[in-house]
Amino acid sequence: MPVRPCSGVRRMLTGAIAAAPLTACRGAIDQSALEPGSPQAAAVLDLWWFALAVAAGVYALTIGALFWALWRARRRARLGEALPHDEMRKKSIAVIGAVVATVVILLVFFSYDVSVSRTLRVPAAEPHLLVRVTGRRWWWKVEYPDSNPSRWVTDANEIHIPTGRPVLVELTSNDVIHSLWIPNLGGKKDLIPKYKDTLWFAANRPGVYRGQCAEFCGHQHAKMALHVVAHEPAEFEQWLAHSRQPAPMPGDSLTLRGKEVFLSGPCVLCHAIQGTPAGSRAGPDLTHLASRRTIAAGTLPNTKGNLAAWITDPQGVKPGANMPPNALSPGDLEALLAYLQSLR
Ligand code: CUA
Repeated sequence: MPVRPCSGVRRMLTGAIAAAPLTACRGAIDQSALEPGSPQAAAVLDLWWFALAVAAGVYALTIGALFWALWRARRRARLGEALPHDEMRKKSIAVIGAVVATVVILLVFFSYDVSVSRTLRVPAAEPHLLVRVTGRRWWWKVEYPDSNPSRWVTDANEIHIPTGRPVLVELTSNDVIHSLWIPNLGGKKDLIPKYKDTLWFAANRPGVYRGQCAEFCGHQHAKMALHVVAHEPAEFEQWLAHSRQPAPMPGDSLTLRGKEVFLSGPCVLCHAIQGTPAGSRAGPDLTHLASRRTIAAGTLPNTKGNLAAWITDPQGVKPGANMPPNALSPGDLEALLAYLQSLR
């Protein structure tokens, strides 16, 4: 899978590239909780470093005490020394001290953890972008709600956001419990059937961040990924305006035949394409399929060959997925691919 993190490149090079990751590292994808791209992820990372430092200190002290006790016992045996009469009292004081220190450390962890959770939960004051994410087996339905239904955008497996603006992600599930985790942008949050939860983040810089399902949800849990694409605000508005448009009309006879194959075959039973009679919500909306980076929820790069493999033998790519195999004639497949690839 050509999903290579660009972070290594960015680390080797300096400022100029870091400021323009979308152009310099086009197609590169970040997935690391150690490189926060939002204030929320930075707060989680600070907590992680703090926990690591404290745990490392406690570990060093514990192992140090163990070696010191061993050394002292062997030395005492070598010299034939008797135990001092107040040994039990000293040991009791040491044990009580260790218990008190443990309780204090756990309380500090608990309070820090609660305070970070509050930071992640507090709604931002500025006008935010609302994105609704629904977990499905095994893909992500992504919606940008609008009071005007014709402006409502439905997408799949990619969340597009503007930089610098708080994003409120409303999470729910249609089947089992999933969990949304975009390590560069924030902590993980469960998607629970019949229950709505929310997650806030605001991307600091443009880029493509990989996220994945972090709760075992069945056969293809590992192939339930998504991308968050953070655009400059003006670029995001362009993207949103384009996404509100219906699918482009076929421009040639092959594409037109492909549209007919789509509308007369099994595809139409599960997928929607705005601007056509296809309106099923069982599978991902395909209105702008060709503009997505991957297919099958981050499983394959969105290329013609992969699309052909996915359409004809989805079970070979993602066993257990709801998409059935489609035995199309070579001519129909070619036309269908041409149509799907025209859906920009
Ligand atoms: Cu969805 Cu794991």
